[in-house]
Amino acid sequence: MTKIYSTLFLSISFLFINQICYVSAVSVEKYLTLSSDENRALEKFREQVKPILKQSYMKTDAYLIQFLRARNLESGAAEKMIREMLKWRKDNAIDNMRLENWSDMVDDFHVTVDTYDKTGRPVGVIDIYDWDIRQAVLQGKGQRLLRFIINLVENITTQMHERQELGMNVTQVVVLGNANGFNVIQHACPLCLPLWIQFIQIIESYYPQVLDEIIIFDAPPTIQVVLEVIRPFFSRYTSEAIKIFGPNRSRWMAYLDEKISREERRSPYGGTKPPVDY
Ligand SMILES: *[C@@H]1O[C@H](CO)[C@@H](O)[C@H](O)[C@H]1NC(C)=O
Ligand SMILES: *[C@@H]1O[C@H](CO)[C@@H](O)[C@H](O)[C@H]1NC(C)=O
Ligand SMILES: *[C@@H]1O[C@H](CO)[C@@H](O)[C@H](O)[C@H]1NC(C)=O
Ligand SMILES: *[C@@H]1O[C@H](CO)[C@@H](O)[C@H](O)[C@H]1NC(C)=O
Repeated sequence: MTKIYSTLFLSISFLFINQICYVSAVSVEKYLTLSSDENRALEKFREQVKPILKQSYMKTDAYLIQFLRARNLESGAAEKMIREMLKWRKDNAIDNMRLENWSDMVDDFHVTVDTYDKTGRPVGVIDIYDWDIRQAVLQGKGQRLLRFIINLVENITTQMHERQELGMNVTQVVVLGNANGFNVIQHACPLCLPLWIQFIQIIESYYPQVLDEIIIFDAPPTIQVVLEVIRPFFSRYTSEAIKIFGPNRSRWMAYLDEKISREERRSPYGGTKPPVDY
């Protein structure tokens, strides 16, 4: 694995220098606008899966279209995907996760879920720099950590569904991470990578197309290396949703200012929101 890292490192690090993505996010309206093909497919799909869906948010067009699009509008394949999602949620008691006692995680893995972008999308903010993933894995807490992260995803996607019920056009969520201090040993040790990959597979299988963007800034070049190792596990959609910024503050600040107001961001994210007392 180390060998892969160093080879990739050489070939990728020069690309990194120019890596800046001023790609503007797909606007909410555009996202919700369905082509006539999509409309036709959705109509059929809705009827097809209606009997197996219980939660009201799952019956919405905004939810169903994500599965259809992830399967190129093939309703049979999308139905299979929905069935697998329902089974996964049941087998892992996902609906009751928020009631679990997370006190073993919250002190060591800092996240916040009270930030919103300018269009109202919930933003999960992860202080990557102080996450010791390697230690968690070595202590046998890797799966527990994965579950904790899924709980974060559940939290922000539930907020998204709640916002939709209030009539807001919010169909996606954002993940923002400050990677200052990221190091391959602590965050992407050979034992840690399977955890990352498992997480990606969960997102791709059970939360298709729900990520608007994953924005990581203050990232050292090594993060690109890791990303290239795990990239084959991402769908093209998610892969394109990942935005990595290096340490040049004026660059990531410009991007974040465009997307999330400073009042919504805490100081490590270049904003003015009062700090959390973890
Ligand atoms: C949501 O988007 C639709 C069109 O895509 C628009 O008609 C509607 O006014 C929007 N609602 C809000 C609350 O912005
Ligand atoms: C949560 O678990 C911790 C131990 O990990 C325990 O000390 C605490 O009392 C538990 N809290 C509740 C509300 O059960
Ligand atoms: C999300 O997490 C926050 C902080 O723990 C909590 O206050 C809130 O109720 C959660 N929201 C949902 C929808 O789970
Ligand atoms: C940081 O980015 C800005 C804006 O793109 C650029 O003008 C500046 O030269 C960069 N600074 C460094 C140290 O690269």
